[in-house]
Amino acid sequence: GDRLEIERDVVVIGAGPAGLMAARTLKKAGRSVAVLEARPRVGGRTWNGKVADAQGREHFIEIGGQWISPDQTRLIELVDELGLETFPRYREGTSIYVSPDGTRHEYEGTTFPASEKTQAEMDQLIATLDQLAAEIGAEEPWAHPKAAELDAISFREWLKQQSDDQEAIDNVSIYVASGMLTKPSHTFSTLQAVLMAASAGSFSNLVDEDFILDRRVEGGMQSVSLKLAEELGEDVILDSPVRTLEWATPDESTADPLNHVPADVRNGVDNDGGPGSVTACSDRAVVRARYAVLAVPPNLYERISYVPPLPREQQIVHQHLSMGLVIKVHAVYETPFWREEGLSGTGFGGGRLVQEVYDNTNYGANFAGGQAGQEDPFGTLVGFVSDVYAEQMWKLSPQERQHAILSAMADYLGPKTMEPIAFYLSDMAAEEWTRGAYATSYDLGGLSRWGHLQNQPTGPIHYACSDIAAEGYQHVDGAIRQGEIAAQRIIERG
Ligand code: FDA
Repeated sequence: GDRLEIERDVVVIGAGPAGLMAARTLKKAGRSVAVLEARPRVGGRTWNGKVADAQGREHFIEIGGQWISPDQTRLIELVDELGLETFPRYREGTSIYVSPDGTRHEYEGTTFPASEKTQAEMDQLIATLDQLAAEIGAEEPWAHPKAAELDAISFREWLKQQSDDQEAIDNVSIYVASGMLTKPSHTFSTLQAVLMAASAGSFSNLVDEDFILDRRVEGGMQSVSLKLAEELGEDVILDSPVRTLEWATPDESTADPLNHVPADVRNGVDNDGGPGSVTACSDRAVVRARYAVLAVPPNLYERISYVPPLPREQQIVHQHLSMGLVIKVHAVYETPFWREEGLSGTGFGGGRLVQEVYDNTNYGANFAGGQAGQEDPFGTLVGFVSDVYAEQMWKLSPQERQHAILSAMADYLGPKTMEPIAFYLSDMAAEEWTRGAYATSYDLGGLSRWGHLQNQPTGPIHYACSDIAAEGYQHVDGAIRQGEIAAQRIIERG
């Protein structure tokens, strides 16, 4: 049918938390906006879902991002502004550590019950990483004098240089590798690992699951986006992937006739000569605006055709950012049986198929008939199968896959784990408008070479995403912050 023809001050591409926050901030400052979203829903990598059991009862799950940590202050404020409630992750009782030889240990607190030597090695590695994170920071890691050196060595190699204790290396590497970037530790640099730590306040914070996985939103993290979209009303257009983005800078005389890219933009210099113009062509609407906010993950930038093409630096940068791969597993039980055994539901084991499990039982408005302050009588576990293990799992039949994953979870919480009433695997890598999980990161050496360009506007095009954030990097908090920053920059430009 006919596409809508719309004129606005700003067109926002992507209705994830970053794009919606950019639109909200712009609208509050009196700018008109239109948000174009490829999917039939808002929220991007935050997504409320349901899984049915054999009796047809539906259980609430969060397919994407869900946890908030205390350092994520911008998100915490926003959740409050939107009138949403949060609740803490269940963490009473003992946790389980499975060591490399398969031995199961019960422990309290946040420190693995490894040997004294391994524990001392881990403490030493964590202290060194804390120091690097404090020194380098999350704002401009590429600008630090040690950037090139730390970006030239993989996290695994660096850990091997610091320690000869394999168990300590495995345990420390999982906090960033399978735990966050969801790539094997030989594929990303130490600088990238330091950015991950600095963005969360410190490396010690990454180690502390009571910190990192502190609270959830009642009604699910997608509620943040649903509320923002509700405020924006008809300015959000769903089912409408942007295919082409035409853009021009205000002064045509600076354009280079050979490659159609204005010289100042090609040289990576922000054009501060006021508004330009953009036309975003999507399946359901064509939006003409003065600015665009490109609020999609960087691995998807090249799904859009730019007319003229983006400057060479941007074309290069985008090829060095790729998604990690992780399967988020939900298993639902009649009761949270582990609690009756005095267990918190938390389990860890470096180098195992499922390296982390947690109690993910629903609370308040999250479950059918649930009300604020009430807990779901059904127990839910969440587990993660990262990078190379995720690849292995997708090669199996559904039955073999479910059996392998539940067996690995049973290593922590016992044989009852094998018999959930409902089971669900988040498959973000198969989603056309995400293509991986949790987020994108640079390949070896990419951050120091290209990081300084990731937040530079290209003429009238501004970038916003959790994956190019400083604080809150790879998290909803970072998405919110980047959305707000992009909007403020546009407001300042007039
Ligand atoms: P996001 O990807 O969310 O949104 C981008 C939007 O752009 C999408 O809606 C997409 O459809 C749309 N789009 C793409 N191309 C388009 C085009 N051409 N035209 C129009 N629209 C287009 N974070 C956290 O804080 N706590 C957590 O516990 C977790 N856990 C977690 C688990 C899993 C399984 C995942 C996948 C992710 C997490 N995260 C997380 C990460 C968190 O979900 C993520 O950082 C934010 O959702 C990123 O928000 P953005 O808006 O930047 O991108």
